[in-house]
Formats: sequence, structure tokens, C-alpha cells
Amino acid sequence: MASENIIEEKKQGQALITEQKDDNSKLLFIESFGCQMNLNDSEIVASILADEGFNTTSHLEDADLVLVNTCSIREKAEQTIRKRLQKYNRVKRINPNMKIGVLGCMAERLKTKFLEEEKMVDLVVGPDAYRDLPNLVREVESGKDAINVILSKEETYGDVSPVRLNTNGVSAFISITRGCDNMCTFCVVPFTRGRERSRDPQSIIKEAQDLWDKGYKEITLLGQNVDSYLWYGGGLKKDLKNASEIAQATAIDFAHLLEIVAITLPKMRIRFATSNPQDMRINVLHSMAKHDNICKYIHLPVQTGSSRMLERMNRQHTREEYIKLIDEIHEILPECAISQDMIAGFCGETEQDHKDTLSLMEYVKYDFGFMFAYSERPGTPAAKRMEDDIPMETKKRRLSEIINLQQKHGLYRMKQFVGKTVEILIEGNSKKSDEHWMGRNSQNAVAVFPKGNEKIGNLVMVKIKDCTSATLIGTRI
Ligand code: SAH
Ligand code: F3S
Repeated sequence: MASENIIEEKKQGQALITEQKDDNSKLLFIESFGCQMNLNDSEIVASILADEGFNTTSHLEDADLVLVNTCSIREKAEQTIRKRLQKYNRVKRINPNMKIGVLGCMAERLKTKFLEEEKMVDLVVGPDAYRDLPNLVREVESGKDAINVILSKEETYGDVSPVRLNTNGVSAFISITRGCDNMCTFCVVPFTRGRERSRDPQSIIKEAQDLWDKGYKEITLLGQNVDSYLWYGGGLKKDLKNASEIAQATAIDFAHLLEIVAITLPKMRIRFATSNPQDMRINVLHSMAKHDNICKYIHLPVQTGSSRMLERMNRQHTREEYIKLIDEIHEILPECAISQDMIAGFCGETEQDHKDTLSLMEYVKYDFGFMFAYSERPGTPAAKRMEDDIPMETKKRRLSEIINLQQKHGLYRMKQFVGKTVEILIEGNSKKSDEHWMGRNSQNAVAVFPKGNEKIGNLVMVKIKDCTSATLIGTRI
């Protein structure tokens, strides 16, 4: 799993395809890099452009409009996208009418630089400005460059019904918040995605209900920091004058939202990401315990096991507080899987800090992990105030120690399922064989088993006979 996640970053973006409208005459090639939120944003963009006459295509050469939804989280992600832009420009030489646009975090971060210095694109649109796409595309079609990267305080796309791209028809994402107010010192997200906004719960429930009606069986509620979800009528939290105003406004927090969704759709499997240790409250664990349809899996990034580093990262909690939260999860949800994000070699990290990370991992024994070497991002508090002083070699060595340990723990966790019977939601064919189904259990572990007369989207009981560090192997019972 660990190495798979690292490969993830190097992987090409996905060319995204959706259902086609008969009267649409123009072709859109859209590719998405980075997080799940970006993929969901691309679905919103495809929906907005379907109303403007665009059908999606998987053939770059045929496209009238090429859009790439970009990620700025690490330097490597940006380099990958630059290479894609060069490729688009080579195709454009053959098809000069083709227009190229960049969406998402890199658009927000680099703004006019793409148009003025690099001349690689015709269109630059930040994550909050997709509603303006029809106007911007028209400008570009009339031969002008177009740009909108204004960060909004209100935009949640609550009323846009995303068209599902490259879907398996079983699981889908629903964004519940946008932006982040946390200001971890290493992170570019608050700068590219702006202040945190929560989406109207009614529009979330409507979207979930629509997905159920279309046959979807699993939704993932998405936000940079889902635990800080708070609906009190819209707008920014900081605009409320005092805390009692929140209480009076019959606010809905994340635990409450989870319960509403779980009760409204009792047969839908519900997942969520990402949880932030400093904002996660115990009532979320109780909501999870109460409802079987909320999956027992929490992605709880910690970044480092050293309290000193946590402080430098402005994570607002200590190692001890994190351990206490882990203990509470195990107590309230004994079957819950937990995964991490870790950063190796943040500014000033000593060998002892690194050992603290490894010892925290030994304590938790995470089921899965997403691990990275620190990559300085221009404009972040760390870039402004701290020295990126850990040599690349050291970062890489520490990262590989973290990855190796995670692989050991991943296998340990998978082995706990051997001999047990687990409920699997069938997502499609196994990658390795058409004669096997692939699906996941509540804890998000992938399982494969020989096909019988089941269908994609069925929930079935599977007895686990064996495993690797990434896959459970079983038979239907
Ligand atoms: N809360 C967000 C975090 C987004 S960034 C979420 O929804 O997951 C995802 C992960 O990328 C972070 O948890 C962190 O481990 C990693 N990351 C962020 N900035 C980084 C940087 N500058 N260098 C290396 N890794 C970084
Ligand atoms: Fe980034 Fe920290 Fe928010 S990692 S997305 S600033 S919670």
C-alpha cells in the first residue's frame, strides 16, 4: 500500500469521461491530478460545460477544449503537470483551434504567470471560479486569453449537480466543505483554496439521495478538514460575532451531518475524508458507532510523531493528545481502521524527531499510509520563516524507513482479517483476473474473490482465507 501511494503521485492524471448529451457538438478533454476533491471539482466543471455544448472525449487529439485540473501540494506534482502542458501544446501545433486551460490549485498559485511568461495556456481558472467558465470559454473562443482566480468567500457549488466521471456506478464523492482555515506551516492549500466554507446540509442530502436513486451504494463526504464542518446558514465562521451566535443558529456540525445522512439513506455506505486530529470531536466517533452504514475507517493524518515538530508545523496538538485520540477511537470503535499521512524531513527535524515518528507508528500500527518527503512550497509560513535544512538524501532515507515500517503494519492489519467473514461491496473486476470480483470492506481493505452470480454494487459476505499487504483473498459464503 505504502509504495502504491507514492507511485500515485508519479501516475498520469486521469482522462475523464462522462455520459454524453446528444445535442452537444463540442469536445472536452479533461484530466485531473491530485486529491479526491480535485476529481469531484472536475465533475462539477464537466457538469457546467455540458450545459455549454461540451461532451467529454478520451482522445486528446479530437478535443476542442483541453482542461487540466492541477495540484500544487508538492513540487513534483507541479512538474508532472508542466510536462502534460507541454504535451498538449505539441498536439495543439497539429490542431491550432484547440484551446488549453488550467484549473485548480496551480492556476490559483501561479495566476497570470501561465499566460504571460509561459504562454502555455489560453485559460486560467482557480478552484472557486468554475461558474465563470462559460464566459471565460466564450472569450477564449473569440481569440482572447481569459483568467479568473478570485478566491470566493461563499462558493460551495451546492446547487451544481456534478456529472460523474469515469464512474464504476457504485461509489461517488460529495464535497461538504471547501478551503481550509488551519494554516499548517508546510501547506499550500489555504492559499490555493482559500477560507473554509461549509455547504448547505440540504443540498448534501439531496445529492446523496440522487446518487442512491441512480444506484450508487457508497458515498465519501469530502473536505480538507471534515471535522470542522459547521452549517449555520452560510458565510465564513470568522464573520460570526461570538460563539453563542453559533449555538443560537441551530448549527449542524460534522457528527450531526453524518447522522442525518446515515439515517436518511440507511443502506448507503458512508465514508469521509479527511479528519484532522485537532478538530476531530468524540461525538463523531459516537455517530460512527451508532450507525452500521458509516464505514469504520478514519484517515487521521499526523505528519510527525514529535511534539516539537508538530508545533513547528502549527498542528495545534501534541503527540500525547494524538495518542489519547487514538486510544479513544480504539475504545469506542474497536474495529476501526486508521490511516496516516506523514512528512519526512520537515525543517529542523532531528534524528530523534524521526525516531519519535517511527515509535508513534509502532504504537498505532496504521492500516494504511500516505507518506511524503517534505517539499517546500513558496509563500507558505514554513517557506517564509524556516530553513528547508534537511538534505534530500536524509529526507529520502527517513521516508523509506517510514514506508518500510508502514508496509509491515499494513500486512499486520490485513492478517487480522484472515479467518474472518467480512462484508464486501463489489466495485468491479479484480485488476488481475476477470474471473474475480474486487471490493472493499468497511475498513477500506481491498478484497478479491471468485465470481459467482453476484453483480457490481452487491454487498456480499466473504470469508477471508489469505492476504498480501495490499489485498485480502477470500471466497463468498
Ligand atoms: N487536510 C488535507 C491535507 C491536504 S494535503 C486532506 O484532505 O488530506 C495531503 C497531505 O499532503 C498532507 O496531509 C501532508 O502529509 C502532505 N503535504 C502537504 N503539504 C506538503 C509539503 N509541503 N510537502 C510534503 N508533503 C506535504
Ligand atoms: Fe493543509 Fe493543514 Fe488544512 S494540511 S489542508 S492546512 S489541515
